[in-house]
Amino acid sequence: MAKKRIGILTSGGDCAGLNAVIRSVVHAASHKDWEVVGILDGTAGLLQRPMQYRVLTANEFDGNVMRQGGTILGTTNKGNPFAFPMADGTLKDRSYEITDGFKELNLDAVIGIGGDGSFAILSKLAKQGGINMVGIPKTIDNDIGMTDTAVGFDTAVAVATEALDRLQPTAASHDRVMILEVMGRDAGHIALAAGIAGGADVILLPEIKYTIENVAAKIKSVKDSGRNFGLVVVSEAVKTLEGAKYEVEFADGQKRYGGIGNYIGMKLSQATGSECRVTVLGHVQRGCPPTYNDRLLATAFGVKALQLIEEGKFGRMVAWQNRQVVDVAIEDAIAAYQEVDREGTLVHTARALGISLGD
Ligand code: F6P
Repeated sequence: MAKKRIGILTSGGDCAGLNAVIRSVVHAASHKDWEVVGILDGTAGLLQRPMQYRVLTANEFDGNVMRQGGTILGTTNKGNPFAFPMADGTLKDRSYEITDGFKELNLDAVIGIGGDGSFAILSKLAKQGGINMVGIPKTIDNDIGMTDTAVGFDTAVAVATEALDRLQPTAASHDRVMILEVMGRDAGHIALAAGIAGGADVILLPEIKYTIENVAAKIKSVKDSGRNFGLVVVSEAVKTLEGAKYEVEFADGQKRYGGIGNYIGMKLSQATGSECRVTVLGHVQRGCPPTYNDRLLATAFGVKALQLIEEGKFGRMVAWQNRQVVDVAIEDAIAAYQEVDREGTLVHTARALGISLGD
């Protein structure tokens, strides 16, 4: 078998399990005697001269790395190379610097570990530069289509569930309603899964319109039943009653969701008279050791990605479907954006338990 030189990069927001993917690829490649080049800071590493990359060796992954959150390669979730923000405020197409960089590295193929936003950019770069690319899905939001799950989601749900485990005793000690705001961008997967697993009374999702009257009625019925506390999970992209997004704008003009939990807490305390306290979980959901599920997924995905390269199957994303690793066209996966299914099993499960979804 001809020796190959494979590039690997992490792109978009980090999550738990990225290092486990890199470790899997490097170990599996070493058994084929292939070389793996780690590109640093996503595509940003190829915009720099000299380019930022390093050869990865199997023995550096023998110890702690797989267990660590984050990504040893670094990543970026800003600076689309097709419209790169320049210091003078203009946007410049710098994509050719990246495709030239890939060529200079003399790679047989590149493994991109990313979410749908990263895949859209990487696929465009791959087409433009004739680059052989394979994608591995990662995102705590679990919104990539054609795969049951993505690296990082399980850990984020585990963290959010543990947060509810920790909020429940303090809520019960003070007769309080605890509101937990979780990430997930425009999809409510983390909120729904953690809310069910963590025993929430109310779960608010961006996919389902709520009223405060409905949420308040649930909290009142909980109190009427003799229980002295309530747990409410709110997904970050839930809107205000008037339909506005709750976002934070940073100094560089970027916007991110955040703060809707405080709004819901305020409205709920007004409507029920209950004492409400709010926890915004934020990046705690990303930077921790991956669960065993995320390690397994990461490892199986890494192996499958190398197999695809060996078979010459490019423009593909590895995916988890029906207990197996398969591969799908990256473009199909991007197109099949996966929000919470309003008629799906978990929504049905929540309703059957009497959990209020606010509608
Ligand atoms: O897409 C992952 C995610 O963690 C979202 O859930 C969240 O809205 C966003 O990224 C936060 O982005 P940043 O890390 O740039 O603050």
